[in-house]
Amino acid sequence: MRAPLKQPETLFIGQHCIWLEECASTNTYLAQMPQEGIWEGTCVLAHNQTAGRGQRNNRWEAAPHQNLTFSIFLKPKFLEAKHGHFLTLAVALGLADALTVYNIADSRIKWPNDLMLGSKKLAGLLIESHLQQNMMQSAIVGIGLNVNQMDFMHHEAISLAQYTGRHYDLSALFARLAEHLEKRYLQLKKQEFQQLTDDYHGLLFGLNETRLFRDVQQNTNFEAKVLGINSEGALMLQTQETVRLFFSKEVVWL
Ligand code: BTN
Repeated sequence: MRAPLKQPETLFIGQHCIWLEECASTNTYLAQMPQEGIWEGTCVLAHNQTAGRGQRNNRWEAAPHQNLTFSIFLKPKFLEAKHGHFLTLAVALGLADALTVYNIADSRIKWPNDLMLGSKKLAGLLIESHLQQNMMQSAIVGIGLNVNQMDFMHHEAISLAQYTGRHYDLSALFARLAEHLEKRYLQLKKQEFQQLTDDYHGLLFGLNETRLFRDVQQNTNFEAKVLGINSEGALMLQTQETVRLFFSKEVVWL
């Protein structure tokens, strides 16, 4: 018998959950539900995704029943489209905050939206948003977090269990995530952009370090020091010649 599901202590995120044994992708599942009828904060979780989607049209691979793969339906109608990147910051920070409950204080956020433990990837985000005019209308926030899986095809992936040697109750972990994601989302609702940016910089992977990057448009590699993000969410990189700005998908970490 499975342990009972833990109810998150939140106002709305995770108050309505759909736990699926299997689906293609929780993001796709939510997107196909009639949007008018969905409560804000509704979560779709799958024990197994058969076609989990990642950034850049990659697949998100996660062994069944060992990880968290879920999507949250949000209505950030208060957020101007030009501030859309702050939703990514808030979600990434919420994930990192939740890990501190488990005494993991050294996770880092690799711009724009990977959560890292050391040099390995613990979690990824796929946020698909819907705009109307210059405002956000709705967003499906997809989160893949490696939890109890001990072997990965990709050697750059890591799970919580690999990192700590412990086994995690997925339902309890999800409840903690929902609570911390909601705290950050409410901070976003209050338009606390500076605080979110400061906190993001506090956890930014590679900050002030010189790293190797690939300029996607020019198809060239270059070394640069990571200076942080600007108010538009662009990554600021100091090369020998100048400071260069890159938006998501324009540059790749090597
Ligand atoms: C990345 O490439 O880093 C983003 C990965 C996002 C994976 C999650 S798993 C739950 C949700 N459903 C999907 O199909 N993708 C996201």
